[in-house]
Order: sequence, then structure tokens, then C-alpha cells
Amino acid sequence: MMNLVVIGSQWGDEGKGKIVDLLSESADYVIRYQGGHNAGHTVVSGETVIVLHLIPTGLLHAGKIGVIGNGVVVDPGALLEEIDALSSRGISVSGRLFISEAAHLIMPYHKAIDKESEKVKGTRKIGTTGRGIGPAYADKMARIGIRVVDLLDPGLFREKLATNLVEMNYFLEQLYKVKGFDLEKVYQEYMEYADRIRPYIADTTLLIDEAIGRGRRLLFEGAQGTHLDVDLGTYPYVTSSNATAGGACTGTGVGPTKINEVLGVAKAYTTRVGSGPFPSELNNEMGEMLRSKGKEFGATTGRPRRCGWFDVVLLRYSVRVNGLTSLAITKLDVLDGFPEIQVCVGYEFEGKVYREMPTALKTLEKCTPIYEHFSGWSEPTTGITSYDRLPKNAKTYLEAISEKVGCRVDLISTSSKRGETIVLRNPFQ
Ligand code: IMP
Repeated sequence: MMNLVVIGSQWGDEGKGKIVDLLSESADYVIRYQGGHNAGHTVVSGETVIVLHLIPTGLLHAGKIGVIGNGVVVDPGALLEEIDALSSRGISVSGRLFISEAAHLIMPYHKAIDKESEKVKGTRKIGTTGRGIGPAYADKMARIGIRVVDLLDPGLFREKLATNLVEMNYFLEQLYKVKGFDLEKVYQEYMEYADRIRPYIADTTLLIDEAIGRGRRLLFEGAQGTHLDVDLGTYPYVTSSNATAGGACTGTGVGPTKINEVLGVAKAYTTRVGSGPFPSELNNEMGEMLRSKGKEFGATTGRPRRCGWFDVVLLRYSVRVNGLTSLAITKLDVLDGFPEIQVCVGYEFEGKVYREMPTALKTLEKCTPIYEHFSGWSEPTTGITSYDRLPKNAKTYLEAISEKVGCRVDLISTSSKRGETIVLRNPFQ
């Protein structure tokens, strides 16, 4: 049995898409367990760039099975668009994509509430992707969510929708002063989706259990990142799901004893999209350089990402709360040519030094980063596939990171291309 969880160790956008795509070659099943189409997993194959939002990345490989687990929130319109886009590129997911009956649906009112509630928050807005993620999870927790299985029972679907619209339209019309939704229109739209989605709907907990029983290799593909986790991240500036490794269990129904390894993906520096604390952020030329060299613009919304130095405190926390067994360091090549590289090793706030992640938002927002300095390298690392060929200073940097965060490095990515990766050890082997 070899089952692996791959998670983001920072604030998302660590390059999980490429790493999952690479490791999918060794997996039989690739399973999404949380989030929705707020995610943007970019995969570069030859000259083609494919961005997946909801469909598990592994489906780009012929013959692999993809599962959308119960912990994911599904916008059926967005899902069908993605299926069609893949199909137009000659990639069929028919017979190899399975969607959990228990996954919750994103409804049009979720998107509207997401956008309107951000507007009233003013400077305290989260900077969401506007995809309706938070309101869909809120309904799930409030036990009024509509699930994928409800699409198969039109009477029940209509009843639930009608009840929810009373409340949702009240919010939209009375509080936010925007137009509400018409029951008939939403019902018809979703019944059309139901017709197309029906063949993909399955009892995925059973499917996964059977796959494990047959000795298949499972890769659980995390979306977003550890510090965006609703329980363990920089709350309230987080997404509304469990992006950490534990989410793989609750979001798919797989027991923790069935997971062998957890790989954390981290950039060689740090980025964040949306609002919230970011101690090692660089609001200067250096940050601008990281953004332009690293092409740091959101894969889902196109927003410029905030950029800063690598933060050991963030990573050490990720190692702890995910039980990471190894790391994949991505975008090393973006640091080529920087004369000096800083690594944040602690925070200072009101005379106190923090070596571990503080929980209070104020401390994180107002602290001063403590840096250690490393000499950069001028030699290009783009495309290097052997550790020995890396410049000496790049090796020193990587070894220092690994030692400080307390986790082995298995993979080092030196470009966006699938093959341009240093594989020190394949976690599947
Ligand atoms: P939501 O997930 O759309 O509710 O957004 C909540 C926060 O998570 C915002 O700061 C978003 O920018 C961030 N976020 C959501 N999905 C991603 C992602 O895939 N990568 C990076 N940030 C994300």
C-alpha cells in the first residue's frame, strides 16, 4: 500500500499542479478532497499550458482515475466547462472521473453572497476569489447545503432550493440591496447540469476503499495551502476548507491509517494572494523582481501575487500540522541572479522573539521579520535535473532550509516543465 497526500505548505500557489502532475505518473488514482474551483493548478506539457480548477490534475495522464471527494464544493457549471475544455483538447474524462454523492453544490446565491459580503467588509475584506466557496461551506455547516446526490432527486432538490431561496433572497434583497434568484430559473439550470453530471456521480468512499483493497496507489491532491486552512491557517484570512493533510481523511472518507506519506510543496520564496498577514512580504523592488521573474499572477483570478522571502516559521508549522514526511521546493530558478537571499527565521513583536507561528493576528500583522542572509548565485539553474549540477550557493540555501524547517527535501523544481525537476527520491517508490 502506498498512498500519498500532497499539500501546499505556504499560502497556496506553491506549484502543486506541476508536482502532482509529475507524481501522477506513479499513481493510479488522483483525488481532490477540499476547496472548489477557487484553486488553479497549472500544468505545462510541452508547449501547452493547462490550468485545472476542479478536475484532479492526474486526469491529464491517460488511464488515470480522478475523484472529486465529499469535502470539495462543486460548481456544476464550472465543472462541465472544464470537462468540455479538456474534451476539446482530446482529453476525455468519461469513465475515469468520479464525483462524490456527498459533495456540496455551489449555488448561484453563494457566488452573489460571496461578492456582496466582501464589499461590506471594507478594509477587512478577505480578498476571496468570488467563486462562492465560503458561503457554500457555511451552508454545509449550517446543515442547509444541497449535495450532489440531491441532483438525482428533482423533487427533493426543488424543495431544498425553495427553502434556501427564502433566506438567501432575503439577505440579497434586504441586506445587500441586489436582485435575488428565481426558483424556476435556478431549478431548470441545475436540472440541466444534473443530466450531464449523472454518469460521474458515485459513492466515492467505497470506490477509494476498493482501490486500496486492490493495492492501487492513491494520490490525494490538496488545493490552496496550509496557512489558508480554516482551522490551522491565518484566520480569518483563509479559505473555508481544510487544506491541510487531515482534510484528505474527512474530505474523502479514507482512514488516517491508510496514508503513508505527506509531501509538502513550498516555493523557494513566499507568495500570497488576497488579504491577510505576510511577515516576510517585500513591498519594494525586490518583491517586484520576484513577481515578474516568477510570473506571480493568480491562475484563477489573474490577480498579482504578493511576494516575499522564504519563511522558516511558516514552514516549520506546516511540517508540524501536516506531519510532513518530505518537501518539494519549487521555483528555485526564480532566485537565480539575486546577489543576496534572505530567509525569515523568526518574528519580533513588542520586544518578544517568536520562533514558532503565533496565533494572534495582530502579532503576525505587526511583527518584524528576523532574517538570516545567504549569498546568491549567478549561474542559471533553469532546467537542471541533477542535484550535483546546482551552484554551490543554491545547495547551501536548500540544505539550510531543509535543516531549519526540520524536513527532508525530495524534489526540487527548476522550471515549470514536467521533466525539469531534480528527483532526489520519488515518495511513491
Ligand atoms: P476563497 O477560497 O475564494 O474564499 O478565498 C479565500 C482566500 O483564499 C483568499 O485570500 C484567496 O485569495 C485565497 N485562495 C483561494 N484559493 C486559492 C488558491 O488556489 N491559491 C491561492 N490563494 C487562494
